[in-house]
Amino acid sequence: MTTKEQLLIYLKEGRGSWVSGESLSNRLHVSRSAIWKHIGKLREEGYLIESSPKKGYLLRKAPDMLLPNEIRDGLDTEIFGRHDIVYYSEIDSTNTKAKELASMGSPEGTLVISEAQTTGRGRKGRTWFSPPRGGIYISLILRPTISPGEAPKITLLTAVVVAETLLSLTPLSVHIKWPNDILIQRKKVAGILTEMSTEMDAINYVVVGLGLNVNTPDFPDDITDKATSVLIETGEVFSRVRLIREYLKWYEKYYEIFQSEGFAPVMKRWKELSNIIGKKIMVDVIGNQFTGEVRDIDEEGVLILKDDQGNDHRVVSGDVTLM
Ligand code: BTN
Repeated sequence: MTTKEQLLIYLKEGRGSWVSGESLSNRLHVSRSAIWKHIGKLREEGYLIESSPKKGYLLRKAPDMLLPNEIRDGLDTEIFGRHDIVYYSEIDSTNTKAKELASMGSPEGTLVISEAQTTGRGRKGRTWFSPPRGGIYISLILRPTISPGEAPKITLLTAVVVAETLLSLTPLSVHIKWPNDILIQRKKVAGILTEMSTEMDAINYVVVGLGLNVNTPDFPDDITDKATSVLIETGEVFSRVRLIREYLKWYEKYYEIFQSEGFAPVMKRWKELSNIIGKKIMVDVIGNQFTGEVRDIDEEGVLILKDDQGNDHRVVSGDVTLM
């Protein structure tokens, strides 16, 4: 931990009361002028810190930013987000950055965060609306010991994790739309983009990107009918930092379950959280459309669709519309 991070912890421990410069300098083993410099850095990051020659320092307000310090403070994980959180105030795409870092050897659990994305990417070449402050745009690096063919399981697992996160911190009822959209009623609140690098029949790395509309007040005209945010649904502003901490906690939990017990428990929860089984749907597979009733999702996450003649079809990937 850096001196600045430790200083912030001491200021937070003060819980709204003054902390003397002398005690900070003694505890951190640095001069009082060094403390002053670190305070300046924290202020630049958006922390509101009062200072008084007699009383010392008082932390009034932490910024509404996704700073690594803030995420780590109170984070209940062993690995994910513990060490490597890479923060940007703006970037093209956190997935692109995470892939770059993963290919240079960044370890499992590394998290790339940005306050905004200039070219946020969605599935199938779509864009992801990524304005500053409102949403969460993060990418997690994983190095699972599974075969490339099993990678879709990571996406399904992530959808469960996102749903659990929203269910634990908000009053919303959310569900998963196959394979990985998180919906409130019929509107999308979160999307997942999984990308990977493979070699022969092993995975080098997987990057799981999450876009979660938290405090986004409104959306561009072309998606306003399809997209929603936690703010729009609840009328309340939610802490993005808390949501990220909760996401990492659930992620570590389900990832551990997947590795130690296999995919069945994750799939079981996915089915409970999805409202698709038994529903009549239309699925678009690269421009070809099929309709039918969803009979099941199999162990690999493949959708089993029963057509009007009663024949089963296996759909590995596609866009689903409920009818
Ligand atoms: C989708 O539903 O189409 C997936 C959207 C995924 C968006 C996230 S935002 C963070 C990460 N970086 C990106 O460029 N995309 C993903």
